[in-house]
Amino acid sequence: MYILIYRWNRAKIFKVPANTCVIEWADNLLCLHEGGLPYALDPKTLETKGQYSFQNSLAANVSFLAHTRLDKDNNRLLGCSVVPGRHTRLTVYEFRSDGSLYSQIEHSIAGLCYLHDFCFTKNFYIFTSSYLQWKPLSLIKALAGFESLPKAVTSHTFKDADLFLIPRPDSKLDLEPVSYSLNEPLFTIHLGNASEEDDKVAIYTCSFKDFVIGNEFGYYPCRPGYFDPRANGGGAPQYLLRIEIDWKRNHLNKKWIDHTACDFPEVHPHREGKKCRYLYACASAFDDLPFPFQLVVKYDLFQETKEIWHCGKTDFVGEVIFIPKMDVEEEDVGYLMAAIYRPKGRCVEFAIFDSQQVAKGPICRIRSPQPFPYGFHGSFAEDVVA
Ligand SMILES: [Fe+2]
Repeated sequence: MYILIYRWNRAKIFKVPANTCVIEWADNLLCLHEGGLPYALDPKTLETKGQYSFQNSLAANVSFLAHTRLDKDNNRLLGCSVVPGRHTRLTVYEFRSDGSLYSQIEHSIAGLCYLHDFCFTKNFYIFTSSYLQWKPLSLIKALAGFESLPKAVTSHTFKDADLFLIPRPDSKLDLEPVSYSLNEPLFTIHLGNASEEDDKVAIYTCSFKDFVIGNEFGYYPCRPGYFDPRANGGGAPQYLLRIEIDWKRNHLNKKWIDHTACDFPEVHPHREGKKCRYLYACASAFDDLPFPFQLVVKYDLFQETKEIWHCGKTDFVGEVIFIPKMDVEEEDVGYLMAAIYRPKGRCVEFAIFDSQQVAKGPICRIRSPQPFPYGFHGSFAEDVVA
C-alpha cells in the first residue's frame, strides 16, 4: 500500500527540466517550461538563481506556460498558467518590466485540452483548444507511477477544436469572453500572431489535423544512443492557417495558407499583436510529413507567397528567430537566426541570414564550441553580451 501511495504521488509530479523557452525579462534570463514556475538565471553569467514567481505573484505550485508574449506598446510580458482537468482553468497575467504583476484574469474551458501557446491583440487574449482524451490503460499505469501522465492522453479526433477570444482587462469594448468552433478537430501547438482591425480579428496558427502525442519531432522511438529525426511517429502535418473572426457578426472564417508543413511561427518581436506582413517558420522538406524540419521559411502574408532555404538532407533546423536591425522601422529589415543541428559533424551551427534574402542562405555560420542536442526554441536578447 505504501508503495502504491508513493507511486501515486510521484505520478502527479512532472519533471522540471526548465528547457522549453528562454526569454529575458526584469533583468533575468527566464527558462520556462510547462511543469511549474520559470527558473531565473543571471543573464550575463548564466548562474541559476532559482524559481521565479514575478515578485510573489505566482503560487509555488503554478504551472506557468513555456510561451509568453511581449506587448511592446505597453512594455508588458503576457503569460498564462493552466490547470488541466474536466474543465481546463487558465489564468492570464500581465507583468510590468520590473517583474511586478499588472493584471490577472481567469477563464475556464469545458473539457480537457492542451494549451502550450497563445496570442493577443490590443483588446483580446486568444487561445485555441486542442482537446484531449484519456487512454484508460495508460492512465492506470500513470497513476501507479509506471508511466508519465502525458502518455495517458491522446488528441481528441472527434471533438472540434474551439477558439476563444477573452477580453483583456484594459479593453474598452465591454465584451464577454466568447468561443468559436473551428469546425474540425484541429490540434494546435503554436500560434504565430494575431491582429485586429475594426470588428475583425485575424489569427495565424500552425495546426495539425491529426497529432500523435509522444511521437513528435522524431524523438520516438527513443532509446539511448539512438536519435533519428526522420523516424516520425505518424499523424498529419501541420500547416499555416489563417482564422478570421468578425466578432460583431459572430462569424468565423478560416483558410489554409500553404501546404508546407511548418511550425514555430514567429513575427517581428516588437510587432506581436499587430498586423504583420511577414512570418518566419521552420518547416519539413516533405509536404506530407510533419517533421523533420529542414527548411527556413519566410512567408509574405499579404501576397501569400514564401521564400525558402533548405539546410541539406543530413542536417536539421530549429526555430527561426527574427532579430530586427536597431532603429529601423521596416518590418523585415534585420537578421534571421536558426540553430542547425549537424549529426554527421556532431555539432550545432548558428546560421544567420539577411532576412530580406532568405533563399540565398546564411551570410554567416558560427559553430558552437560545444555540441548540444537538437533543440527548437530560442530567443535573442539585444542587450546581453556574455
Ligand atoms: Fe513551444
